[in-house]
Order: sequence, then C-alpha cells, then structure tokens
Amino acid sequence: METMPTKGKFIVFEGTDGSGKSTQMKLLGKYLQEKGVPCYFTHEPTDSPFGALLRSCLSGRIDADEHAIALLFAADRIDHITNSVNGIRSKLEAGYTVLCDRYYYSSFAYNGGFVPIEWVKTLNAPAVDMLRPDLVIYLDLSAEASMKRVLRRGKTERYETQEKQKKIRENFYEVFKQLKDENIRVIKSEDDKFATQSHIRCAVEEILGDAWKKN
Ligand code: TMP
Ligand code: MG
Repeated sequence: METMPTKGKFIVFEGTDGSGKSTQMKLLGKYLQEKGVPCYFTHEPTDSPFGALLRSCLSGRIDADEHAIALLFAADRIDHITNSVNGIRSKLEAGYTVLCDRYYYSSFAYNGGFVPIEWVKTLNAPAVDMLRPDLVIYLDLSAEASMKRVLRRGKTERYETQEKQKKIRENFYEVFKQLKDENIRVIKSEDDKFATQSHIRCAVEEILGDAWKKN
C-alpha cells in the first residue's frame, strides 16, 4: 500500500502464542517515541465489545463453533480499522505510527486451520482492501519454545497446545507464500530479546526512511 509521506505507518506483529509480540512491540514503540515518532499501540482481538466476546471464547468461558469465531474476528477487525473514535485508519490519518499486535494473517493461520481457508479469506477480503500494513514482522519461534513461554503464564487458551501451535506455524508459512505484494519480515525470536529487537529496528528503519533519522 502506498502511503502519503505525512501519514503514519502501519506496522503489524504476528507470530504463534508466546512468540514475544507484545514485548517486542513495547520495546519498538518506546524506541520510536524517543526518536520523536508518535505511536499508537493496539491489538486484536480488540478491547471493543466484539473483542470482549472473542476473549470469552478464547478463555473457554463461552463455547463457540470455529465458524462463529472466524466471523467474530473478521467483524472485530473491520470495526478496528473503521471505528471513528479509535480506529486504525483514523490514527494513521492523525499521523500516528500504528503498532498492532495481530491482524488478518492470524485469521488465516489460526481460523483457516479449522474452517476452510478460502472462506476465511473471503470474510477478510474487505479488511485486506481497506488497509494493508506497511510492514509485517513475523516473530518466528518453534512450537516447543512457544508452549514453554505460554505455560509459564499459568493458564492456557483455546489454541494453546503444542500440536496446534505447530500446525499454526506451518499455516503462517503457507499463508506468507501465497500473499504477494506484502512486506513481511520473518525474524527469529529464540534469541535474546534485545538481539531480536535490533533486527526489528532495521526492518522498521527501512519503511520510516529519512523522516525519523533526523531526530
Ligand atoms: P493473543 O494471544 O495474541 O492475545 O491472541 C489471542 C488468540 O486469538 C491467539 O491464540 C490467536 C487467536 N486469533 C485468532 O484465532 N484469529 C485472529 O484473527 C486473531 C487476531 C487472533
Ligand atoms: Mg495467546
């Protein structure tokens, strides 16, 4: 997607559960803000009523069929993009660089593993048309390492088993192969978190260009 020079950039973090997305996103945001780049932090599922429903499905408090979950994620995403109060589009237009924990790639890799992927792509076609990221950072971690980190948190959610995480990781790779014209960077997340962060910053520097180096 070609963005206006004055508009903020849209950067998405993706990965399996426990891959370090939120830690790396915070580190990147702090760094960018210190450089004078205004950042807006967000995530999917969102904090909207759509997202709250999804959180209940993920925790197991509500039982729901995989089709219903895929539909809810697609609805949550459209609201996330378009909401006039705190939607991603309005933040980008206001000049923020938006850092987003998960986007439609998660729907393809997670939900597309349980219901037909082509249907999940159809559900997400409006979001793809509305807003594609300037950069996607995929934090790559083995299913074993992902699960080790998830288990350290105490309780597990809907997709958090080693078998599912392994399949989801394979799905991400398959999805990335199929998506043309998207700026996706795969970055190893097994290393020290600061080493991972320095690889992320290199990728981000490329899309932000000269605007922030002057600061
Ligand atoms: P989180 O662990 O990053 O907070 O995300 C919540 C869970 O929701 C995670 O297991 C991935 C899953 N998910 C989907 O299944 N489809 C989606 O579209 C998104 C955004 C997340
Ligand atoms: Mg999780």
